[in-house]
Amino acid sequence: MVRIIAFFVGLGFAGVLLISLVVNLVAYVQSPTEPTAEHEFHREPKELHLASDGPLGKFDRQQLQRGYQVYKEVCAACHSMNLVSFRDLAALGYNEAEVKAEAASREVPGINPDTGEVTTRKALPTDRFPSPYANETAARAANNNALPPDLSLMTKAREGGAAYVYSLLTGYQNQPAKLLKEFPAAKTPQGLHYNPYFANLNIAMAPPLSDGQVTYADGTQATRDQMAKDVSAFLVWTAEPKLENRHRYGMAVLIFLIIATILGYFSYRNIWAEAKRQVAPKGPLDPENKAKRNHAKGEAGIVG
Ligand code: HEC
Repeated sequence: MVRIIAFFVGLGFAGVLLISLVVNLVAYVQSPTEPTAEHEFHREPKELHLASDGPLGKFDRQQLQRGYQVYKEVCAACHSMNLVSFRDLAALGYNEAEVKAEAASREVPGINPDTGEVTTRKALPTDRFPSPYANETAARAANNNALPPDLSLMTKAREGGAAYVYSLLTGYQNQPAKLLKEFPAAKTPQGLHYNPYFANLNIAMAPPLSDGQVTYADGTQATRDQMAKDVSAFLVWTAEPKLENRHRYGMAVLIFLIIATILGYFSYRNIWAEAKRQVAPKGPLDPENKAKRNHAKGEAGIVG
């Protein structure tokens, strides 16, 4: 009885699945999903190779310093990095005095100790990279109602990581004529900028980089491409400053595990060698049973 009920319940479920399949197929054939401009024109990030890539990658400190310079002179006008403190810059090779000077070049909200009034003060090495805006409302008001996101973890937050940031910064272009022809409604709205690497193709951030915008202290030519690479490498560091440690410990742990596995295998062989030798063959392989079988075969006249 239970089996019959179970059979009909199963049949009911299978029937519902079949009906929904047929209904959806009919709907799909009658009105297939419209292709969208995003679907047709969005691009995957370009290739970007950084010194920190791969399981043994290390940061290129010189490049990180250049990237920091780009962040400081360009991106910091709109983007905060509220998980990175000024003192963290010591890891890029800046000495204490330089870190203090970097901090002192930025203003953060503070309180006047004499009057208790809200003012601004020079940042200290322990402060985080502040937002240039008082709050989200002010940030949106200054950016056409878009919010410049915090950049500390940006290379972890987007698929493609550093390559995505690099592609985004160098990917601004005019809308292809083909796009406008196929999707007239997808024309970039006023105040936005066409960028095929951005998820919906139109980003509120104006192209932030142009050739020669910063003057690198190490004499590197500051092309737009170079600055985009450097700031992307810098944002890999801000998102994971301990990446080199992870790579180093990861390798050491792997080597340890390989040696431990080899040792484990040989001690297993050693411990069980004696015991295995003592196990007598049983069943059809027992010599006594074999002899009996051969005898019986012989009696029955079976050869082989
Ligand atoms: C004038 C202000 C301004 C400057 C300067 C600026 N940005 Fe932006 N940025 C924005 C705004 C506004 C957004 C939000 C865009 C949106 O949501 O459409 C944004 C978004 C971003 C995003 C996120 C894109 C996403 O996938 O959501 C990244 C990454 C970014 N900016 C990196 C940078 C870097 C790196 C620099 C420096 C080279 C920089 N920005 C300079 C205003 C700025």
